[in-house]
Amino acid sequence: MDLDLSHPSIGDLRRAARKRMPKFAFEYLDSGTGRELGLKGNRDALDAIGFMPSVLRGRTVAKLQTTLLSRTYDLPFGIAPIGMSGLMWAGAERMLAKAAVAHNMPFSLSSVAVASPEDVAPYIGNTGWFQHYPVNSGELRRKMLRRIKAAGFHTLIFTVDVPEESRRERQRRANLTVPPKADLRTLTEMASRPAWCLAHLREGIMPRMRFFDDYVPTRGRESFTHAAALIRGIPDWTYLRELRQEWDGSLVVKGVLRPEDAQRVLAEGVDCIWVSNHSGRQFEAGPAVIDQLPKIRDAVGPDVPLIYDSGVAWGLDIMRAFAKGADFVMVGRAFQYAVAAFGARGIEHLIHILKADIQSNMSQLGAEKLDDLSNYLLPQV
Ligand SMILES: Cc1cc2nc3c(=O)[nH]c(=O)nc-3n(C[C@H](O)[C@H](O)[C@H](O)COP(=O)(O)O)c2cc1C
Repeated sequence: MDLDLSHPSIGDLRRAARKRMPKFAFEYLDSGTGRELGLKGNRDALDAIGFMPSVLRGRTVAKLQTTLLSRTYDLPFGIAPIGMSGLMWAGAERMLAKAAVAHNMPFSLSSVAVASPEDVAPYIGNTGWFQHYPVNSGELRRKMLRRIKAAGFHTLIFTVDVPEESRRERQRRANLTVPPKADLRTLTEMASRPAWCLAHLREGIMPRMRFFDDYVPTRGRESFTHAAALIRGIPDWTYLRELRQEWDGSLVVKGVLRPEDAQRVLAEGVDCIWVSNHSGRQFEAGPAVIDQLPKIRDAVGPDVPLIYDSGVAWGLDIMRAFAKGADFVMVGRAFQYAVAAFGARGIEHLIHILKADIQSNMSQLGAEKLDDLSNYLLPQV
């Protein structure tokens, strides 16, 4: 099958993933919170951003190589951290890490992924970023940081937009628990997805948050949230200050929307701000992320690295983010759809889709540098 003909867009990969994943896993991946206004708001705001093409520029070839936090990546986008990624498809984290190395792009491992830092350590090369949620003791945090460093991760992402769990109704209705409940409904759903079951059997790991194995007693793991909730800490400025003192690599704070928060985060010595609303999974009544990006850029000045995520569904969205002030873009769900749809081949195909879409749209504009794209923006009403 030529995927470029059968599945030319991320929407096609999403539909293919839906057919291969049990409903509880797909709903966990796909849902937003509440009425999902956050998801819609991100999409609408991205769609509202247009560009003015310029003609007779000769043959233009977009330059995709991007430097971020003193490292040069071959692509302007990377893989965002996804909790329970290995639930979407067995071994997803390993496949994503391998692809990140092959394409020299960042791979972020969530602290609540199925794979532990040690599970993926052999595959991350120089591309490893690790995502951290606050935990309830400084000693535990320091232990975790040592472990992450020893596994070869050089960049730490501190996620600050999950002060508490959000109520994702679709996910709840889908009866999601980890490990999956052995009730009739779940078993029936799993039985309807034999390839998914087989992949998990081959992997030989019950999907759970393996990083926490050493920190959380096995009892109390019944519910989806427990492993992380049992050691959850308080996300405050003191926590950030301590984390900065303890982590000597690059530190990125993820989930910032207010310009004044961005300024304060920087004053704490953080290296990079990741502008995101968790793609509408936490709070649906906030602003569209892309609308906050230029405001944060204005507040922090031209030299602070800014990462954008939330709602990227085309290469064009990556261009929109660069035009509005981003230095780099991260992609979440799309990589999980890709791996669930076609495994490692799906990841390759997604990278191809995003690259080809950027190349093609940059040529239509007559632009070569992502950093120049603000000059092509249409005025917004
Ligand atoms: C299923 C799922 C799980 C996620 N888990 C985490 C996580 O563990 N840590 C984190 O910082 N962000 C997490 N995120 C947020 C992503 O890192 C990222 O911000 C978001 O997915 C980007 O938007 P996109 O999915 O529209 O590309 C998760 C997102 C999804 C969809």
